[in-house]
Parts: sequence; structure tokens; C-alpha cells
Amino acid sequence: MSFSEILPATEQNIAKAARLLADGQLVALPTETVYGLAADALNGRAVAEIYAVKNRPRVNPLIVHVCDADMAARYVDVSPLARELMRRFWPGPLSLVLPLRAESGIDSLVTAGLPTLAVRCPQGVFADIIRRIGRPLAAPSANISGRISPTAAQAAAQALGEKIPLVIDGGICSVGVESTIIAVEKDKMTLLRAGGITREDIEAAGCGKLHMRRKNSAIAAPGQMQSHYAPAARVRLKAREVYEGEALLAFGSKRAKNYQCAAACLNLSETGNLREAAHNLFAYLEQLDAVLGKSDGIIAVEPVPAKGAGEAINDRLRRAAAER
Ligand code: TXA
Ligand code: MG
Repeated sequence: MSFSEILPATEQNIAKAARLLADGQLVALPTETVYGLAADALNGRAVAEIYAVKNRPRVNPLIVHVCDADMAARYVDVSPLARELMRRFWPGPLSLVLPLRAESGIDSLVTAGLPTLAVRCPQGVFADIIRRIGRPLAAPSANISGRISPTAAQAAAQALGEKIPLVIDGGICSVGVESTIIAVEKDKMTLLRAGGITREDIEAAGCGKLHMRRKNSAIAAPGQMQSHYAPAARVRLKAREVYEGEALLAFGSKRAKNYQCAAACLNLSETGNLREAAHNLFAYLEQLDAVLGKSDGIIAVEPVPAKGAGEAINDRLRRAAAER
């Protein structure tokens, strides 16, 4: 197939994206977190194509995107706690793992056979398209499995461009890291992935305590692969010193020792603002990777505090640095 078109999010192009999706094709769409590779969640062939295009293991289930809580309730059982979380945080970067309803019509490939389904209501263009076609859209991040998630249309097109017909350009994603994923069982919330909504945001909403997932918990968290978000270069964390030829991903106003010998330096946030750092994270990793070329370069990363949006940043950095 020829390269995908990148088209701005105009009325006409949104209509075109909706037509392609309703016809069972894949389209990359902007969300507030990262670009998603969308397909009709009720169409098994379209969903299978997502796994093929991304080279994604079929044991890794997909998030289903809806345009509101009522649409979610067609596919999952929504407990009062889940309803309250939707009311507080939707549309927004929160995915909820809830019991899948019998005869939901959601293709079993979407859930990788689990009895639960992750649902999320994104902001903007994505939700407009769901509303327009009246069907839920399955959408993982629009990258090749294991690589950096795209936060710009060009990055999505570069990753998947020859394999999909269209990328809708909605500009740079505001949040920059993926949604927070929370499993809700009756009145218990368990964090499966740190993301765009912080633990502090959730706990301040007064919905109760957010539990950590235990290692041998009954709640499945498939697809949380140890190595993920990986640039071509190796990633060295908590760098207090820079070695000759390394690229530096900096944070805040205090520099690592010998930062002058870095091949390139980008600062996630000069002022130490963690939301700004999350917004810049994937794009900066990509840019430093490009500077280092395909060689066996190293990106040294200065320490980033683990509070607030730093929890998601550190999660992504740990996976980027993990053994491949
Ligand atoms: O912000 C986001 O969530 C983006 C945008 C496009 O919406 N999507 C995204 O999708 O990050 P993906 O496929 O890259 O990550 C989805 C994660 C995977 O780790 C998967 O294992 C988990 O969600 N997941 C999906 N369904 C699940 C379920 N039923 N139980 C537990 N984990 C689930
Ligand atoms: Mg992903």
C-alpha cells in the first residue's frame, strides 16, 4: 500500500475517517494522551488487522473507546463506583477495567479472552468520530508494539504509514502519556497502569483508596511488558553524570555532572513541572534517538521525582530502559 495521508481534523476529513472506520478500515486518530490506531470494536476482521499492523501479541487486550458512560454501559457492568469515576474523569485520560457484559458484541480478540473489558472516553475529535458512527472503537497506541508511543501525527505516520490509509492530524497530544488504567471490582480500585490522571487526582476525588496491583493478584494485567516504549538507543536512568557521546534527557534546573559532553540535550521541564515533562517525554526520546542515529547510542536520563505525573513518567522510563 502507498503511504497514508495525513489530513487536518476538518469536518470533511473527520467524515472521511468515520466512513473508513465504518467500512472496517484502520485510521490513526489523535487523543489527549497519544495517537491511537482505531478500528470498529464490533468488527473482528478490523480488530485482527490492529494486531497485524502493530505486530502486537494477541494476549495483549485493547482499550475500547466510547463517547460517554451510556455507551460504555452497553458493553460492561458499571458499578456505582465506576459510574462516579466516569462522572468525574470522562472525557479524559482514564481507562476502567470492568466486567464484560454477556452478548456485548465486542469481538473476543479485543479482550484477549478475559472476562473484563477496558473502556475509556477520550476528548475531542476521537469522541466526535465515535458519536458519528455510533459504534465503539478499539484503539491501542499507534506505534509498532514495544516502541515509543506517538504524540504527533507525523510520528504515527512514520511508525505505521505504509500500513494504514489515513492519519488525522489533531496537533500535539496535550497529556503526552497514555491513560491511567484502573480495575474496578465492586467498591475496590486497583491501579494497573499509571498515566494521565494521577494517583493524587483519583484520591482527591473522594472515591476511596487506590490499591496497587499485587504480583500474584487475580486481576490480570496482560501487556504490561517489562520492555516497552523503547527507543533504538539504550536508556540509562537516574544519571548524575554524563559520559562522552551520550545524549542527555534532562529534568529541572540542576544539571548532571559533565553535561557539556552530551551529544545532545533536551530538558523535559526547566521548571521541574511534571505535567510538562509528561507532555514532552515521548517526543524528546524520539528526537534524542534520531540524533544518536541507529548506532548503539545511550540516552542518559536525569532523575525525575515519582510523585504526581512523575509516577507515569518513571513507569515509561523504566520500561524504556528494561532488558530487551
Ligand atoms: O491513552 C491510552 O490509553 C491510549 C489511547 C490511544 O487511548 N491507548 C493505549 O492502548 O495506551 P495500549 O493498547 O497501548 O495499552 C492498553 C493497555 C495494555 O497494557 C493492555 O494490556 C491493557 O491496556 N488492557 C486492556 N484491556 C485490559 C483488560 N481487560 N484487563 C487488563 N488490562 C487491559
Ligand atoms: Mg501502547
